[in-house]
Amino acid sequence: MEADRRTIVLGLEGTAWNLSCALVDEEDVIAEKSATYVPAKGGIHPREAAQHHAEHMASVVKAVLDVAREDDLKIEGVAFSQGPGLGPCLRTVATAARALSLRFGVPLVGVNHCIAHIEVGKWKTGATDPVVLYVSGGNSQVLALRRGRYRIFGETLDISVGNALDKFARQVGLPHPGGPKLEGLAKSAKEYIPLPYVVKGMDFSFSGLSTAAAQAAKKHDLADVCSSFQETAFAMLVEVSERALAHAEKKEVLLVGGVGANSRLREMLNIMCEERGAKFYVPEKKFMGDNGSMIAYTGLIMMKSGVTTPLAESRVRPGYRTDEVEVTWQ
Ligand code: ATP
Ligand code: FE2
Repeated sequence: MEADRRTIVLGLEGTAWNLSCALVDEEDVIAEKSATYVPAKGGIHPREAAQHHAEHMASVVKAVLDVAREDDLKIEGVAFSQGPGLGPCLRTVATAARALSLRFGVPLVGVNHCIAHIEVGKWKTGATDPVVLYVSGGNSQVLALRRGRYRIFGETLDISVGNALDKFARQVGLPHPGGPKLEGLAKSAKEYIPLPYVVKGMDFSFSGLSTAAAQAAKKHDLADVCSSFQETAFAMLVEVSERALAHAEKKEVLLVGGVGANSRLREMLNIMCEERGAKFYVPEKKFMGDNGSMIAYTGLIMMKSGVTTPLAESRVRPGYRTDEVEVTWQ
């Protein structure tokens, strides 16, 4: 594939709650259409989410293909989120992606969802070689590129920080997703309540924090508990990110994933980066949570580096690890 020619790739995301189809080229997002699954109550139910994706697949894909047709664009690849994620959701997305790739007679590219968060972040902020803090409902990791792979410097030993926020929110009767609700409540906090701070080596743990916060909410003001929860969890994330900067000898920090929408977390990371002389990058909010553009863009740069996924290797990978992927495009 020639380096300087415009390439257009369609991408499909649907690892969890958000089904999203997008069309991108090297420069920008051309079209994106999403459909969001909202659980009736409680957390995500994998089969219900997959059913949601199956029901909305035709309409999100059609919206994007309509744009391609109107603008007479030639799609040259179909990228899809191959993992990690919920098995039933991944299978629904992979099936649609295989069908589209056959229909257009173009290559299929299986994309690692976590790497897509990182690559779209770099694309949209201009970060080149950052330490990445990836915090979402399913993942909490600190990563950096070393010897051709995104190495995981630190990660959660139990649940992700987003999951911990959502679990706590559910326990105190707040609706899903809990992260934004907690952030709102935390603004009127007056007092700090000590909660378990757990960093082991370069890894962190959030399960005990979530339970302790739910206990604390029985006898303390909810706003105080929300704020203390954030301060504790985010301080753990910042500590590990700071140590990864030193270890990996990088000069940039990139924040990605849904929890990255939190302004207190951004503020704390920004302070740490200023103190260390590192640059801090955060993509626009629409590129922080799950979106089809991140899959399409990562598929595009993978394809341009010569990587595609034969049908026989397109099975879904619910436990796909970031460091399994050879980074051939940088
Ligand atoms: P992944 O598949 O990458 O793990 P995901 O499916 O969890 O991603 P995201 O949109 O990346 O989806 O993240 C959702 C999480 O982000 C939820 O746990 C939600 O509570 C959290 N979140 C969203 N906004 C905020 C906020 N302002 N503050 C804290 N957490 C937030
Ligand atoms: Fe995600």
